[in-house]
Amino acid sequence: MTILLLGSGGREHAFAWKMLQSPLCTKLFVAPGNAGTEGIAINVNLKITDFEAIKIFALIEKVEMVVVGPEDPLVKGIFDFFQNDSELKHIPVIGPSKLGAQLEGSKEFAKEFLVKHNIPTAGYDSFTKETVEAGCSFLETLQPPYVLKADGLASGKGVLIIQELAEAKEELRNMLVHSKFGEASSKVVIEEFLDGIELSCFVLTDGKNYKILPTAKDYKRIGEGDTGLNTGGMGAVSPVPFADPVLLNKIENRIVKPTISGLIKDGITYKGFVFIGLINVKGEPIVIEYNVRMGDPETEVVIPRLKSDLVELFLAVANEKLNEKTLEIDSQSAATIMVVSGGYPEEYVNGKVISGIETVSDAIVFHAGTKTLNGKVVSNGGRVLAVTSFGNDFQDAIKKSYQNIDKLHFDKMYFRKDIGFDLL
Ligand SMILES: Nc1ncnc2c1ncn2[C@@H]1O[C@H](COP(=O)(O)OP(=O)(O)O)[C@@H](O)[C@H]1O
Ligand SMILES: [Mg+2]
Repeated sequence: MTILLLGSGGREHAFAWKMLQSPLCTKLFVAPGNAGTEGIAINVNLKITDFEAIKIFALIEKVEMVVVGPEDPLVKGIFDFFQNDSELKHIPVIGPSKLGAQLEGSKEFAKEFLVKHNIPTAGYDSFTKETVEAGCSFLETLQPPYVLKADGLASGKGVLIIQELAEAKEELRNMLVHSKFGEASSKVVIEEFLDGIELSCFVLTDGKNYKILPTAKDYKRIGEGDTGLNTGGMGAVSPVPFADPVLLNKIENRIVKPTISGLIKDGITYKGFVFIGLINVKGEPIVIEYNVRMGDPETEVVIPRLKSDLVELFLAVANEKLNEKTLEIDSQSAATIMVVSGGYPEEYVNGKVISGIETVSDAIVFHAGTKTLNGKVVSNGGRVLAVTSFGNDFQDAIKKSYQNIDKLHFDKMYFRKDIGFDLL
C-alpha cells in the first residue's frame, strides 16, 4: 500500500525506517521529510497543515493511509477533514479526531477529562483574563514551586515553574493579560507541584482496544545534570529501569484503562497514539499531561524495540481490530543521544556539512534536522541527528551511541554526555 507520513523530525525518520520493513508498505511518501527520509522514501514538499494540498496529493498518488507525526495537523483536525470528505473518507488517518486532539491542544480540556474519569493528576484550577485576581488568590493557597501552564499549544515553552509567589503572580498576569504566549495563554492552568521522577507511557489505540508500547524517559534540558534551557529533547532510554511490574500495573489499571474507557464514554473518536506524561511520586504514577502523538526522541528508542509489523498494527487501528494483534518487544534496552547545533535551543546556524554518518556501525542514525544540499547532508535545525543503539542494559546502549557519535562531525556540534545519569 501507498502511505503518506507527515512530519520532518527524528520521529518521522524512525517511523519511515520501521514502516519500510513491512511488506505491506510498497510506497512511502514523507512530507516534508529530511535527508534521512530522502534516503529511504520519497520526500514531498507539502505543508502539513495545508489540508487542501494534502487532499490533492493523496488523490493523485492514490495514498491509502496517512500517518501523522506531529500534533499540529491533529489539533487542526486532519482526521475529521479526511472523514468528512467523500473522496477521502476511505483513507485511514492514524491519529485522533479533532476533539481527541484537544487532550494535547488544551491543558484545561485534558484536566477536565482526567478529573471526570478519576485518573490521578495534580490538583488544579484554570483562569482567564477576567479571573486573574482569583488566580492570584489560588496561588496563595498553594505551596511553592508554582506551576503555570498556558492552555494551548506553545511548542513546549508554555509551562513555567516558579519558586516565588510574587513572581508567580506577575507571570500569571503576563500570560493572561499581556499574552505572553499569545492566544495559547488566554487561559492558564495552575496546578500543584508534583515531586518525583518523570517517565512516559505510550499507548496505541483504535478507540476501543489498546496496546501499551515500551516505556521511555527523555532528557529535556540542554545542559548536563538536567540544567539550562528546555529543548525538544536531548536523548532517551527505553525501557525505564525503575518502571517495574508493580508500577506498570498501576499505570495500566489506574491510567491507561480509564483513559480509553473515558474516550469511549465521552464519544471521542481516537485512532492513534496516546503519549502519557507521568511523574512517579513515591511509587504512585500521576499524570502530568497527554500528548496525542509519539514523543521525539522517545520514538527513536520505542519504535526500534518494536518487533511487530507497524503497518499491520496501523491497519488494525484503522479497522478497530487491535485486540487481534500482539506486540512483540525486543528485550534489549535502547538509548538515543541527540546531536544538536551549537547554540540550540537559542540561536544557531544551519547548513553545516555533516560527515561520518556512513562510518557508524552497530547504531542507527535517525536524522532530525537535516537536508541534502549539493549532494551533501547538512544541518537544518536545532536537533540534527539522533543516534540510537541497543544494549543488554541502558548503560551498554548509551555507551554504544557515544562511541558512534565520536565518528560524526559538523562544525559546533553538541550533545549531552550524561544521558541516563539519574538512573544509575
Ligand atoms: N504538576 C507538575 N509538577 C511538577 N512538574 C511539572 C508539573 N507539570 C509539569 N511539570 C514539569 O513541566 C514540564 C512541562 O509540562 P507539560 O505539562 O509536560 O507541558 P508541555 O510538555 O506541553 O510543555 C514537565 O515535563 C515537568 O517537568
Ligand atoms: Mg510535556
